[in-house]
Amino acid sequence: MNTKPDVKIDIEKCVGCGKCIKDCPEYNIVMENKKAKINKTTCLKCGHCIAICPRNAITIPEYNSKEILPVSIEDKLNSDQLLKVIKSGRSVRQFKDIPVEIEKIQQIIEAGRYTATASNAQDVSYIVITEKNNEIEREALKLLRILKRPLGIFISILRSITIDDNFFFKRAPAVIVIISNNKVNGSLAASNMELMAEALGFGTFYSGFFTAVVNKSLKIRRLLNMKKSQKAVTTLVIGYPDVTYLRTVPRKKAIVQFE
Ligand SMILES: Cc1cc2nc3c(=O)[nH]c(=O)nc-3n(C[C@H](O)[C@H](O)[C@H](O)COP(=O)(O)O)c2cc1C
Repeated sequence: MNTKPDVKIDIEKCVGCGKCIKDCPEYNIVMENKKAKINKTTCLKCGHCIAICPRNAITIPEYNSKEILPVSIEDKLNSDQLLKVIKSGRSVRQFKDIPVEIEKIQQIIEAGRYTATASNAQDVSYIVITEKNNEIEREALKLLRILKRPLGIFISILRSITIDDNFFFKRAPAVIVIISNNKVNGSLAASNMELMAEALGFGTFYSGFFTAVVNKSLKIRRLLNMKKSQKAVTTLVIGYPDVTYLRTVPRKKAIVQFE
């Protein structure tokens, strides 16, 4: 049996301020003899207690403490800048023939890794395609071309699409398939990854068609070494953009209801 505690409190460092107790979403910490003490065995391992402790007295042994960074007020985003970035972010489908550096892929994945997940499940994983792009695209094309006509009877978008040889990846040098059994968790991670990719100078688009195909094709799943239980939530296609947009685009009015 694993008796390792989920959360460790260094009693020597703890000053009994109670901040961790107040912030713990699982009510998992209590005060005992003017020191914080772990109450239950259930724990989200969300790390709020680590983030809030003024004496850095708390650790979660399962995680690498060296990854923890100090947070300051300057780390907050500027709201006007953020909205401008969101408004000007386009789906990029024209890419330069330049590979994507592995360190930059890792940084994009970090943005996914640190995104919130329901119950802190951290149940999102990633398949990075930089070598098998052509082989996989060919397989995906084969399947879509077979399915276009029969499925087109029910799915109107399939009737109108033109399937050229670069239909799925648009000659992009990198593709990340975001895997999770929780669609919301996977989608939130993907959204932050998209922002990070943009901040690194890349253009991206989501390949919904590839996501649909990867979940159907045994051959592609085999090529990607995917387990039976793994489900693609979305696919982020990434590369250096070979297109520049000069202005933002208009959108429908938001439907908002205040109660
Ligand atoms: C879930 C999702 C799936 C998408 N799938 C595709 C796709 O398979 N191929 C494609 O060219 N664009 C795809 N897109 C891009 C949309 O067409 C695009 O976001 C939309 O037209 C708005 O354009 P914009 O992103 O430039 O604002 C997808 C977008 C989303 C959010």
